[in-house]
Amino acid sequence: MSCCNVGLILACCAVLASGVPDKLQPLKTRASSKIIGGTPAAGGEFPWHVSLQNNYDGQNWTHVCDGSIISSEFILTHAWCAYNPSRPRIVAGTLNLTTPGSIHNITEMITDDRTRRHLALVRVSPPFQFGCNTRPVQLPARFAETTAGSVFTVTAWVPLEIFEPYSTLFKLQSLIVPKDECSILLEGFVDLIYFICATDVNSLSEVNSMCSHQSYGAPLVHDGELRGVFYSPIYCDDRPTVYIEVSLFRDWIFRVTGV
Ligand SMILES: *[C@@H]1O[C@H](CO)[C@@H](O)[C@H](O)[C@H]1NC(C)=O
Ligand SMILES: *[C@@H]1O[C@H](CO)[C@@H](O)[C@H](O)[C@H]1NC(C)=O
Ligand SMILES: *[C@@H]1O[C@H](CO)[C@@H](O)[C@H](O)[C@H]1NC(C)=O
Repeated sequence: MSCCNVGLILACCAVLASGVPDKLQPLKTRASSKIIGGTPAAGGEFPWHVSLQNNYDGQNWTHVCDGSIISSEFILTHAWCAYNPSRPRIVAGTLNLTTPGSIHNITEMITDDRTRRHLALVRVSPPFQFGCNTRPVQLPARFAETTAGSVFTVTAWVPLEIFEPYSTLFKLQSLIVPKDECSILLEGFVDLIYFICATDVNSLSEVNSMCSHQSYGAPLVHDGELRGVFYSPIYCDDRPTVYIEVSLFRDWIFRVTGV
């Protein structure tokens, strides 16, 4: 039976949740602004989106980075997330971090071969079991170009209220900005060679919503294909946010993971 139809997701989620032995402790509170734009994701809509968590106090798990499942053994995230010293884990298959779909240990973290500071591949154990709420995202062809003017979707774990723990998966539309225009807007602050620029749409304020969160590794997706990985808002205003351009790292991803 296919259960990947959004209409059937509730039944599927109940099945998955009942099979989870390990209960997640409430997350540690962390300062953050309330999300400004965006809406909650629906079940099965972004089944590749995972949470990388750390256990700083030896008791409670805290969301640290966002990531995307790309195969049964690997997720793709921001390289920064690989330089964290404590013992991390991955939570997949849920829209609510207090009720994990599945929990995975991290066995290996590999930073990209060009700069070591853009992307990281994270190997999990046990492997993901694919179902309606846990599935890999498609990867772009090598050097595939991202067309300025297209509208993409970025997803991120967010707290529902200021000072609440990161708990809920939100989605936000984001418009791809031409690189030359972006370079001027960002005043040459970053060399855009490895980046895509995008600006949030439907934001209810002049403040860029992706700016409110340290959503390192959050996926920027179009038609189920992963094109960008959230890198930094650079400036916390209405100027574009930068995402790592995944198609430029395609050979390295293939060499490490076989996908
Ligand atoms: C862990 O979470 C529990 C429940 O919210 C809380 O009572 C406890 O203080 C937390 N532990 C630490 C070390 O923060
Ligand atoms: C997440 O799950 C917990 C535990 O079941 C529940 O108390 C909380 O209301 C849920 N949060 C949302 C946003 O649905
Ligand atoms: C994760 O690692 C811990 C500590 O080594 C181990 O106790 C636990 O069984 C592992 N969990 C999984 C799902 O492999």
